[in-house]
Amino acid sequence: MKSLSPGGRSPLTIQRTMPKILLLASLTFILLAIISLYFPLLWQHNGSAAAPASSNSKSPLSLSHQQLLVEEKTGGGAVKASSSSKCDIFTGEWVRNPRAPYYTNKTCWAIHEHQNCMKYGRPDSEFMKWRWKPDGCDLPIFNPAQFLELVRGKSLAFIGDSVARNQMQSMICLLSRVEYPIDVSYTKDERYKRWKYTTYNFTLASFWTPHLVRSKETDSDGPTHTGLFSLYLDEFDEKWTDHIGGFDYLIISAGHWFFRPLVFHEDQRVVGCHYCLLPNVTDVPMFYGLRKALRTAFRAINSAKGYKGITYLRTYAPPHFENGIWNQGGNCVRTRPFKSNETTLEGSSLEAYMIQVEEFRRAETEGRRRGLKYRLLDMTQAMLLRPDGHPSRYGHWSHENVTLYNDCVHWCLPGPIDTWSDFLLEMLKMEGRRSRQEKLVYSDRRLRASHPHVTSSIHRLKWIEIQDGRGGRPQHTTPHQKRSGRKSCPLQLDTSQPRYLHPLKPPVHESKTTHLPNSTM
Ligand SMILES: *[C@@H]1O[C@H](CO)[C@@H](O)[C@H](O)[C@H]1NC(C)=O
Ligand SMILES: *[C@@H]1O[C@H](CO)[C@@H](O)[C@H](O)[C@H]1NC(C)=O
Ligand SMILES: *[C@@H]1O[C@H](CO)[C@@H](O)[C@H](O)[C@H]1NC(C)=O
Ligand SMILES: *[C@@H]1O[C@H](CO)[C@@H](O)[C@H](O)[C@H]1NC(C)=O
Ligand SMILES: *[C@@H]1O[C@H](CO)[C@@H](O)[C@H](O)[C@H]1NC(C)=O
Repeated sequence: MKSLSPGGRSPLTIQRTMPKILLLASLTFILLAIISLYFPLLWQHNGSAAAPASSNSKSPLSLSHQQLLVEEKTGGGAVKASSSSKCDIFTGEWVRNPRAPYYTNKTCWAIHEHQNCMKYGRPDSEFMKWRWKPDGCDLPIFNPAQFLELVRGKSLAFIGDSVARNQMQSMICLLSRVEYPIDVSYTKDERYKRWKYTTYNFTLASFWTPHLVRSKETDSDGPTHTGLFSLYLDEFDEKWTDHIGGFDYLIISAGHWFFRPLVFHEDQRVVGCHYCLLPNVTDVPMFYGLRKALRTAFRAINSAKGYKGITYLRTYAPPHFENGIWNQGGNCVRTRPFKSNETTLEGSSLEAYMIQVEEFRRAETEGRRRGLKYRLLDMTQAMLLRPDGHPSRYGHWSHENVTLYNDCVHWCLPGPIDTWSDFLLEMLKMEGRRSRQEKLVYSDRRLRASHPHVTSSIHRLKWIEIQDGRGGRPQHTTPHQKRSGRKSCPLQLDTSQPRYLHPLKPPVHESKTTHLPNSTM
């Protein structure tokens, strides 16, 4: 077998002469060595990190060097997760995790008051003790050191509503076992925060934009006493669109605000509204606004100067009001997750999700032309199963006379939203493999173009597996591509194209087709 590697020095030679297991062992060792190298820095830094509410004594939850190494090695199933070639990490069940939570309201100062459920007397704590178990593989628990290492020198922005902020605060708490960020916000406006992890030169930002497009509160009361907003569905919200240029990752988060009374403007004219009860303005379906707003937000991203990052759409996290809607006594009092066979995504949650996925596909297609990557952080199914994770009435003192309804929308911290970081880290890890595989496709296509008889792909794929230190088969599906196993969900987003049709053929995922229904607008 001739080596056809273009570089002259062939990785294939190594592969053939060295047992796989040996290579793996040495790569593992290198990984551990890197980790121990950066750790000394980390502890020195601890003293100077901004941690207003944290005590100097080491919290029982902060990680020892040794613990992190152990977690890294066992990875809570990291190796297993990736070796399962057909695993959709977003389909699964919640299983008990007695080791959770990984922070408390005493070790982490970043918990928003309204999500500090333990402070406000939530009596049960079982809701913190679950982890997500995808069908057919494992999702490792978030490893803060590994995450920070992966995002070294990079920047991540949360763009959207208060659930986006909820997610960011969860992430800050999870990362606090390693480091707290310093506040480097460019404005005093709390809606636009910027944090820096100095040891890692990692920037975290949040942009408040609950409708994603330009919007204005035109009546602070309105039909439901929650305000009436005017949405300019075809206009960018420049408060964020002007600032995404240098970011490496964006996480888009929106949905809940589209249930409120809204007046929709397009082309500088009123085109309709959702439950605005204004004379002469006709009601259009509630999600008309969500669809158009997503489309405009993605258009902003696809045309943003200097933006070359990866855009994640975090899909809709369903609320769990029972026995009434949000302003009519509805509440969420369950203390256990659902099994996947106990509930189904339906009604407006299903609709919001479908619209998000459809608009995501559109944006992805458009983005690809411009060399931009889109990924679905497909949290909907997992969160549908967590009616127990909301603050309910434990988002404020019970004697406080505030017009806060039972909160069955946000998530207690610690709580199930911490899992979103498990997913994000796993996707970032896949990203490395994905990029290498993408590069491979192109180099392979060039090679094939000039040497049609060449069948070197398989060998180079194997080399990539070894570089990954995994030895498993290459990842065949991307998480959001396979949905066929989702029985509880009536939508069969069966876009389960394998990443490799055949080992001798190059990956094809960039030319995948979608089986989603066409956009209805
Ligand atoms: C944390 O939660 C406990 C109850 O578990 C509560 O007593 C305490 O006030 C909370 N502390 C903070 C800082 O929120
Ligand atoms: C920190 O990261 C930014 C990119 O996010 C880069 O431009 C800058 O040079 C880095 N600084 C250092 C000190 O590495
Ligand atoms: C509603 O339409 C009528 C007739 O076209 C017009 O006179 C009136 O000013 C309109 N009202 C509003 C609030 O636009
Ligand atoms: C759901 O599945 C579990 C097994 O995971 C089974 O024990 C239970 O009976 C099922 N429940 C329903 C309502 O089908
Ligand atoms: C709360 O405030 C409302 C009006 O703002 C008042 O009518 C009600 O009596 C107050 N309730 C309590 C418990 O103070």
